[in-house]
Amino acid sequence: MRKDTFSYKVTSTVASVWDNIKRVFSSQADPEAEKKEEADSADQAEATKEEEEKAEEGMWEETFKSHSDSKPNGPSSISLDFSLPGVEHVYGIPEHADDLKLKTTDNGDPYRLFNLDVFQYELYNPMALYGAVPVMLAHNAQRTTGIFWLNAAETWVDISSNTAGKIPQTDVRWISESGIIDVFIMLGPTPKHVFSQYASLTGTQSFPPLASLGYHQCRWNYNDQEDVRSVDAGFDEYDIPYDFIWLDIEHTDGKRYFTWDPHKFATPKEMLQGLMDKKRKMVAIVDPHIKIDSNYKIHNEIRSRGFYVKNKDGGDYEGWCWPGNAGYPDFTRADMRAWWASMFAYDQYEGSMENLYTWNDMNEPSVFNGPEVTMHKDAVHGDWENRDVHNLYGLYVQMATADGLVQRSGGVERPFVLTRAFFAGSQRYGAVWTGDNAAEWDHLKISIPMCLSLGLVGISFCGADVGGFFKSPTPELLVRWYQTGAYQPFFRAHAHLDTPRREPWLFGPENTALIREAVRQRYTFLPYWYQQFYHAYRTGEPVMRPLWVEYTQDPATFAVDDEFLIGQNLLVHPVTEEGARGVTAYLPGKEEVWFDIHTFQKHNGAQNLYIPVTMSSIPVFQRGGSIIPRKMRVRRSSSCMEHDPYTLYAALNARGVAEGELYIDDGHTFNYEKKEFIHRRLSFSNNVLSSVYVQRSSFCLKHKSTSMIKSKFRRQLEFDFDASMSVVTVRKPGMNAGADWTVTLQ
Ligand code: GLC
Repeated sequence: MRKDTFSYKVTSTVASVWDNIKRVFSSQADPEAEKKEEADSADQAEATKEEEEKAEEGMWEETFKSHSDSKPNGPSSISLDFSLPGVEHVYGIPEHADDLKLKTTDNGDPYRLFNLDVFQYELYNPMALYGAVPVMLAHNAQRTTGIFWLNAAETWVDISSNTAGKIPQTDVRWISESGIIDVFIMLGPTPKHVFSQYASLTGTQSFPPLASLGYHQCRWNYNDQEDVRSVDAGFDEYDIPYDFIWLDIEHTDGKRYFTWDPHKFATPKEMLQGLMDKKRKMVAIVDPHIKIDSNYKIHNEIRSRGFYVKNKDGGDYEGWCWPGNAGYPDFTRADMRAWWASMFAYDQYEGSMENLYTWNDMNEPSVFNGPEVTMHKDAVHGDWENRDVHNLYGLYVQMATADGLVQRSGGVERPFVLTRAFFAGSQRYGAVWTGDNAAEWDHLKISIPMCLSLGLVGISFCGADVGGFFKSPTPELLVRWYQTGAYQPFFRAHAHLDTPRREPWLFGPENTALIREAVRQRYTFLPYWYQQFYHAYRTGEPVMRPLWVEYTQDPATFAVDDEFLIGQNLLVHPVTEEGARGVTAYLPGKEEVWFDIHTFQKHNGAQNLYIPVTMSSIPVFQRGGSIIPRKMRVRRSSSCMEHDPYTLYAALNARGVAEGELYIDDGHTFNYEKKEFIHRRLSFSNNVLSSVYVQRSSFCLKHKSTSMIKSKFRRQLEFDFDASMSVVTVRKPGMNAGADWTVTLQ
């Protein structure tokens, strides 16, 4: 490790008093308190008797409002300080509803990592939310590095900017309530090196089924099968594509997961078959709190196998959640997870079918009557207190569920599982969303940095509730949210039970048309999204990424979080201001040119470009030098588009050259692991567009070969040339996507 770029020092190790540490943190703005912190042990001995007693009080028990949580093993904490010379920008440590560039915390609370079900969370705030990934990235124009503080206990991160020396410096203090110091320094030197170094420790994004990159229609709740049928029909009537319709907790028999309300959802297989006939799918919620009810099979089995988390006295831990009194399965146990996974088998989960997927919510876990609405820290998971492993619970819930979906198909099908709580490594099990946001403009804005921060720490499959969960969006906000969500990785509309209905066609024909257009744009780009996810699965690079990840030396990009890149080639600056007449997008790269995807108008980088906008505008640019595959014939769902032709958009750079990739597989099985795919490199130079393989596939996709002409045939192709736009359109080339071919413009 080079000392000038990264140094660290131990400030304190185990067995200081956690409550005292928290007090030190919260008093850091006070210079007197700072002096006090620096005082030696002799000074400390002079501390008042009252203070000692106070510390003594917190050593064996912690209180939160009316709750008390014991500390049978006494107090502990671990901490380490890191000095980052030359660094002014640090990122990561999600989940917080805050800017992309982390703030200094000298004048307020540190960033807190402790998975919690927070009611109506505040924005621009370091408070803990549903998930925690203890990974920070530090970046300057020369170098990117990362710190992975591997600890699943409650953790606080303090950030201060140190101006004492000649060069800027950021100092970071990590402090966790329990555990050991287990820290990985990722030395980069580029962001992409850091992503791969971190991926080597925790794995990469799982490769999702293609359909899950389409649009998801959710609300709490679709009331019964007739409701599902009519919403599904609405999408056809209004010609809006979607892939998944979701059922929230009310679909169950009294909040008993893995069951269906016998009156409202009496024939779930019929409902699922109806969706399957239209090549659509469903997600049903399965939360990890289990109703304590001796007539409920799941509960009886968990109890008889001794699989519940225990309380400090050895009995089953119980708490309140949606079903009333509930137990919490101990997902940290491999045998419990294996059993849970087996519950997704078609003969166990009655009424389920291949097109039913799963949503894991409330897995922080949420305990309505627990301290801070979560599990007591003195609850016990085998040899561990919840205190030690708290932030891992949600990861294990999603892991067990994803395993269940894989196993029910005999290991053939990719799972899709959405989770609210997460930890380092959760990327391996599915998607996450940003929880209970609100129908407010600031919540729309914050969805960008929240997803960017997750992407930086490996979790690419992220989205926010489109429209906002609490409250009701104005039609303008709803339209803008669809336009933004259409360009974010996980694209799902969701709404609270108490809000008026808001299916896309309920706001008048103009707004319906605007929403339809946004969703359709998403579908045209699905081949590109899919290829980006394949790339994320292979490399650990984020799909939705901050500009500085690509333009590492341009300080103008370092704090940008109102626009973002999808892969390297699409730049998106959604409209997130009420009544906006225009946005100013930063187009990075001195050598780059950027093409407006709608008008093909060309703009040079690097510049701040003012773009006048109307309600239909979604400012998106394709990087000159790239080729993006799209499918322009949008149908009912992504699966309906499987056999449709690709359209290649080649945007030339200043040298008249462009490159891209095309990735195709069956979209839903693990056969890509056996190289059953088509992976081509596309390039355009010297007026020749060509396709050659990147990776040799082990087969040729059957359906692709039927109507294709052999590549060795030479023939004239039809084309149009629009001189005003410098656009050449080659029509119906009829080439086989899996074969080598060239198109020569003469
Ligand atoms: C939680 C979830 C929300 C869901 C609700 C009912 O609040 O975050 O998305 O609709 O529970 O299950």
